[in-house]
This record gives sequence, C-alpha cells and structure tokens, in this order.
Amino acid sequence: MHVLIIGGCGFVGSHVVDKCLAEGMAVRVLDPARPNSRIAHPEVDYVRGHLEDQARLPEFLSGIDAVVHLASTTIPSSSNLDPASDISGNLIPMIRLLEAMREHGPRKLVFLSSGGTIYGIPNMCPVPETHLPQPICSYGVVKAAMEHYLQMEQHLHGLQATILRPSNIYGPRQGRLGVQGVIGTYLHNLSLGLPIEVWGDGSVIRDFLYVQDFADICHQALMSSLTGCFNAGSGTGISIRDLIGRIQRTVGGPVHPIYRDGRGFDVPRVVLDISKVNAAFGWTPRVGLDEGLAGTWNWVSKCDAA
Ligand SMILES: NC(=O)c1ccc[n+]([C@@H]2O[C@H](COP(=O)([O-])OP(=O)(O)OC[C@H]3O[C@@H](n4cnc5c(N)ncnc54)[C@H](O)[C@@H]3O)[C@@H](O)[C@H]2O)c1
Repeated sequence: MHVLIIGGCGFVGSHVVDKCLAEGMAVRVLDPARPNSRIAHPEVDYVRGHLEDQARLPEFLSGIDAVVHLASTTIPSSSNLDPASDISGNLIPMIRLLEAMREHGPRKLVFLSSGGTIYGIPNMCPVPETHLPQPICSYGVVKAAMEHYLQMEQHLHGLQATILRPSNIYGPRQGRLGVQGVIGTYLHNLSLGLPIEVWGDGSVIRDFLYVQDFADICHQALMSSLTGCFNAGSGTGISIRDLIGRIQRTVGGPVHPIYRDGRGFDVPRVVLDISKVNAAFGWTPRVGLDEGLAGTWNWVSKCDAA
C-alpha cells in the first residue's frame, strides 16, 4: 500500500511514518518542514509543500492508495486569536484535498481530529463519541466542521473516512513549545533547568496517550475498512497536579511549578471513553503513564544534551 502522510514531519506524524514503514508500506510525506535528520528515512518520499497548494494536489496524490491527514496550522490555545485563519488554513485546504482525492484516486482517509477539544466541557466522563460536539475553541470548532465534511464526502462520494479523536498525545520528539504537549514542555524545561508553569490550580484533568500507542491505532485505522469517529485515549484521567508528582519521580528531583491564572478555553476535565475503538479494532494502549514518562524523559535528556 502507498500512503501519503500529510504533516509527517511533525511529532505524531513522524511516529506514524515509522509505524507504516515497519508494516511494509510505501510512504510519501507532504510537509513544508524538512524531516529531522535523526529520524529521516531514506526510503520515504519527502515532498516539501503545503496542503493549501491546490495546483500540486495531483502530484501529491499520484500513485497513492490512502491518506493520513495530520497537518494542522493551529493549536487550541492560539486558535481563538484568529478563527478566520483557522478556517482558511485547515478547513478549506481539506475540502480541496477531498475534491482532488475524488478526482485522482485514493478513497481512504484517516483524519486526526481532537478528543480533547471537540466535546467542549463534557456532560459526562469518560466521554463517548456519541456526546454532542460543543467545542469552546476555534481549533475544536474547525475540527468538528472538518469531521462533518468528511462524513458528507463519505455519504455523497464514497470516501472511506476514519476519524480518530486523540486525547493528549505525548512521547519522544514532542517539541518544548508544543502548546498541546504539557508533558513535552515540562520535561524539556526541567532538563534545561527552566521553571514549569501551571495554568490554574492544577486540578484540570487530562487523558494522556503515549505516541507509539497512537501510531498503532492510526495504522490499524488505515488498514481497516471501518469508518466513523473513534476516541483514542488512555481512558484514564490524571490531574496536572498529580502528573507533576509522577514527573517528579521520573526526573528524580523536586519540581516547584509556578501557578498562573487559569485560561478560559481550558476544559476542566476530559477523559475519553475508549470502549468503541477497543470493540472495533481490539486496540487498547499498552504503555502506562510511568513507563511513557520514563521513555520520554530518556529521549528529552539525550536531545537537550546534544
Ligand atoms: N499532539 C497532540 O496531543 C494532539 C492531540 C489531538 C490531536 N492532534 C492532532 O494531530 C495532528 C498532529 O499533531 P502534532 O502534535 O504532531 O503537531 P505538529 O505541529 O508536531 O505536526 C504537524 C505537522 O504538520 C505540518 N503542517 C502544518 N501545516 C501544513 C500544511 N498546510 N501542509 C502540510 N503539512 C503541514 C507541520 O509542518 C508539522 O510537521 C494535528 O492535526 C493535531 O491537531 C494532536
């Protein structure tokens, strides 16, 4: 199978590339960024470009059987500053992609939505896929709109769309400034001797998923004819305060966070119900939080020392 991974030079995308290669797929990556030299693969066809580049879509899709769409130009914390750019940078290019896929061949698409923002402030926890989307940030609103267009494309034109709604993904290769990545930011800061900050009193609850577990379900979704929306999380919540306690044990020293005012777009508690993805794919995360933190800390320490 020839797969196009859009955003394959990013944190999550690079792990999905690794997994697809390990499973014997031929991989093309579309990304404006260059692959990090430490993780670039000679057998991957890295194409530098933007999804917005409509004229090049036939070239990007040539010879491709399936697409994984991981590109995003926004993050939850900054998306409300310019929702119009969120729409023009993410929603419209995806609609152009769907039109080009209709014309040039591939009928399978795996899309990364957002389990952390699409439900807004959930009425229940763990939150199932049947919960009404009621996002409170533009990033989540645009992800919801993208999901709807995928479902429309499936209904009208036979696209096979598998939508994954990940929780908070963490692990090696996550950048220090990744605003979606509190674990990456904390570990890099601690490794560099910088302070860590907590927005609010640390009671916010999140669901953390190790990136290789996510790459596994992404690959399974790609290989499957199953369509629809699937949460992809650990199914377990932890407060930021308790996470810091776990991080303290991982790094083997005291951690003294600086507490800042809470942010309006932060949902107080999100834990994903993963029974649907488990029943459909037999998938369940294999890496627990302590093991995942240790693996991430090991990578961060080497990376920051280099
Ligand atoms: N990291 C998380 O915890 C998390 C959680 C839920 C959903 N997601 C979603 O997963 C996807 C990947 O997230 P990530 O954390 O790896 O982000 P990332 O920023 O590390 O990677 C995104 C990649 O997309 C590329 N990209 C951006 N705009 C592009 C464009 N127009 N055309 C082609 N490539 C483009 C970037 O250069 C980058 O390499 C995103 O869609 C994000 O919304 C991430």
